[in-house]
Amino acid sequence: MALRVRVCRLADVVPGELRAFTVAGVTWPVIVTYAEAELVAVPGVCPHEDVALADGYLEGTELVCKGHGYGFDLTTGTCTHDKTLSLRRYPITVVGDEVFVDLL
Ligand code: FES
Repeated sequence: MALRVRVCRLADVVPGELRAFTVAGVTWPVIVTYAEAELVAVPGVCPHEDVALADGYLEGTELVCKGHGYGFDLTTGTCTHDKTLSLRRYPITVVGDEVFVDLL
């Protein structure tokens, strides 16, 4: 069974910006942004060394981590520098203006 949580309003998501949203009861924030026209949600913590990914930046569809500069393709979650790393893409459901993600 999925653990679906509300993360933000759709209006809070700005194309080209990385915004991390705190989710009640969850240790790590969730980033919701656009990869091209696709709404994407991923963990707000780098799988390399736990650096906040919202401190990084977007380069096209790639999220670049401030920690060591590793890039993550948001269309797949794949790390472009280390194929053993990836970002989980959370399934997203939009209801009206509310954005929900399935964490599990
Ligand atoms: S902590 Fe993100 S690339 Fe190292």
